This record gives sequence, structure tokens and C-alpha cells, in this order.
Amino acid sequence: MAVAELSCHGLCSSSATNGNNHGSSFLSSKLYRSSSFLPSHLHGSQFQPRQRHHPLKLVCSTAPNQAQQQSQTAQVAVSPSVNGKPKSDSSQCYGVFCLTYDLKAEDETRSWKKMINVAVSGAAGMISNHLLFKLASGEVFGYDQPIALRLLGSEKSFEALEGVAMELEDSLYPLLREVSIGIDPYEVFKDAEWALLIGAKPRGPGMERADLLDINGQIFAEQGKALNAVASRNVKVIVVGNPCNTNALICLKNAPNIPARNFHALTRLDENRAKCQLALKAGVFYDKVSNVTIWGNHSTTQVPDFLNAKIHGLPVTKVITDMKWLKEEFTEKVQKRGGVLIKKWGRSSAASTAVSIVDAIRSLVTPTPEGDWFSTGVYTSGNPYGIAEGIVFSMPCRSKGDGDYELVEDVIIDDYLRQRIKKSEEELLAEKRCVAHLTGEGIAYCDLPEDTMLPGEQ
Ligand code: LMR
Repeated sequence: MAVAELSCHGLCSSSATNGNNHGSSFLSSKLYRSSSFLPSHLHGSQFQPRQRHHPLKLVCSTAPNQAQQQSQTAQVAVSPSVNGKPKSDSSQCYGVFCLTYDLKAEDETRSWKKMINVAVSGAAGMISNHLLFKLASGEVFGYDQPIALRLLGSEKSFEALEGVAMELEDSLYPLLREVSIGIDPYEVFKDAEWALLIGAKPRGPGMERADLLDINGQIFAEQGKALNAVASRNVKVIVVGNPCNTNALICLKNAPNIPARNFHALTRLDENRAKCQLALKAGVFYDKVSNVTIWGNHSTTQVPDFLNAKIHGLPVTKVITDMKWLKEEFTEKVQKRGGVLIKKWGRSSAASTAVSIVDAIRSLVTPTPEGDWFSTGVYTSGNPYGIAEGIVFSMPCRSKGDGDYELVEDVIIDDYLRQRIKKSEEELLAEKRCVAHLTGEGIAYCDLPEDTMLPGEQ
């Protein structure tokens, strides 16, 4: 497939680079476009077609007046993009990010880790708008972890993506070493060590749930293929775009060279919501609530588990004795929280979703506190709870902080819980049948239960 020549936005080295020289001793903060399918306004004589899988080549020209102002140690780089339009004849820097500093001496005193590549899809959306700044600040991966952000948008969102990149520039994050933007996952996911897949189409008026599964499923099939082709072999993938469990399943099935256990569906937001409701009922601060599992699908069949949850280290059922509230009100509140929020906001949760993505990542990169666990949707393959194999199901997990996890074995599953878990399992199995054409498992057959919805659908 033909792709367009790259142009710089913000800083790029005045010499050609593949945008990937992680071993460099230079602070290389650069924004570059990578795209095989640029918005129409970016097509034109200034873009030369080239092959998709060639190394990214940054083509920059130097603004002579600015070049004269640079110190001897700074190399000049420029952005040919002004107001989202490519400039082929002259260039304009974005302030301080036009400079390349030789920070070798400073880096040696810092004991920072090796830079990591984090790819984010739906990067021009509301969730990302909260998330990206947290990632760049160091609060997610640590204040000694330099980061490269690789932002995937769509043709429609491309200018907004440039706006996001500009705001990242203006935030002067010391740990933010590179920012790249593009609309081709094969370019943007290159060498990604984390892929946060947020972008998905929301369900529109009159759209059947099966249609949504198909439309979004195709996006995640393509992104799975791209990850398989170009991402790090140990990339950790967190799928946020709904229906996230089945999207994660589609994604992992299309990425056979990446371990299936590396794929997660985000149910941490549901866990956080459950903790909040339990704290509210018990009259305690929410940090006193632990061991909360969300079982199953990120949908209205999800099962917030109060049986194994704790408040101040005691079983929740000893602190909140109103079983009717726990079984009915609490459960439904958590299941439908997203929908209630949509009614208030007029759109889906964004800030709390971003926070829960941060929580989900931190749960994998820091050791789980002794005796506690966290919820995440993972591929069922040899689980101890008797849940059907081959689906992405939210379960209780622990991590040593190495990016991997293990399932928690010592949980109680009573008849109530088992029955509820079964319903979510059946829903996920039906979703799986419905996307068989996207997972390479034969002909799709959609017999989705009618009464189950995304948390936002009511
Ligand atoms: C949420 O739980 O807030 C979202 O998944 C809701 C939605 O459907 O967008």
C-alpha cells in the first residue's frame, strides 16, 4: 500500500532517522506523522508515495532565521505543519521543541530507565485527552521512566490529533521523549510495548448490538494484525473500546505471535465503581475497600463480587449485612453506572475511564499488595473457576509487577455468584459466536441474549 512521505510536527532531527533510535544519547522529542492514509487536505504534490514497511524517514527543512538563533550545541529541526496544513516551502518550529539537546551528561546522572513505547488508539478522543497527560507526567510508569507516545487517530480526527500533540509539546514533560501521530496502525504500533486500544465506534441510533460487534470487531481485527506484524513480541494490550471483552478476543486471535495472556479488557472502571458504592454504603473512605472482583463481561451482566470483597480487611457481608441491597441495588448500580453517567454528561465516562486505565497499568507494573487483587478481563485458558475456555473474562488477578499476572485461586464462589457468572459467560460465548468470522473460527452466528447491554446502553 502506498503511504505518504512523513513531515515533521514539532521537533525532528535535521538528519534522517527512523524515529526509533532508542539507544540515542540525545533527548529526541519529536512529533512526526506516520500514515498510509492521510486526510484529503494532506494529500498533494508535497507527499511522495512510498512503501508501508519502510523505516520512517523524517524530512525536515530548516528555518534559516531560527537556525541562526540556536546555540552551538543545539541542532535545529523544524515543523513543516502550520495550522494542520503541511508546508512544503518553509518551516516553522514549535518553540523549544524545535531543539535537539545533547543531554548525555545529564542523563548519566539521572539513572532513568530505557524509554518505553506506548501506543494509544482513539488518541484524539476524550478518554485519551485525560490519559495521555498522565502517561507523559510519569504518574503511570514511574518518574524515572522516559516514554514515547505513539498516537493513532482516524482520518477524521487527524487535525484534532495534531492539537493533542501540540498540547503535549506545551506541557514540557521531561519524561516525554517522543510523540508521533498517524492513522495507520502498522506504522503507529511499531515496537509498541504497551498498546492502549481506546478508539471504537459508539453504538448509534438503530444499530443492533450485532452490528456494533461487527463494526468494532473489524477495527480490532485489523489492529490485532498490525500488533502481530510490528509491535514488540511482549506488548501488553489493554482494550477499552466497547464491547471490550470481545474486541480483546478478536484482537488476540488476530495476533497469534503475541501471547494471548498479554491482552486485557478493561474492567477496572467497574471495580472502582463497585469500591465506591461499597464505601458509600459502609460509611468508610474508599481506600478501605479491597479484594473486589468484577466477574465477566463489561456489560450489564457483569458480576461485582461482594462475597469475597473486604472492608477494613473484614468480609463485606460482615460490615454491610443488608443482603438485599448487596444482591440487588449494589449489583445493578455498578452494572448500570456507565449509563447513568451518560445521561448526566451526555457522553460516556472519560476521566474516570482514564484513571482506571492508569490503575490497570499500575496493577501490572507494581506488585499487588499482599492479600489483595485486582480485576481485569483476560483470556480464559486453564482457569480454576470452571469458566468456559477461549473467551475474555474478567477475573481476580495478582501481579509481581513484571507486567504479567496470575489468577487468584482462593476465592469463594457460592450458588448466587455461580449463577450470575454463568449469565455473563453465556453472553460472552454468544458474542464469540457472533464474531467467529473475525476470529478465524468459522461462520458467525448471532444469537445474542436480548436483555444484555453495554453499561452505557439503557
Ligand atoms: C462505561 O462503563 O462508562 C462505558 O463503557 C459506557 C459506554 O457504553 O460507553
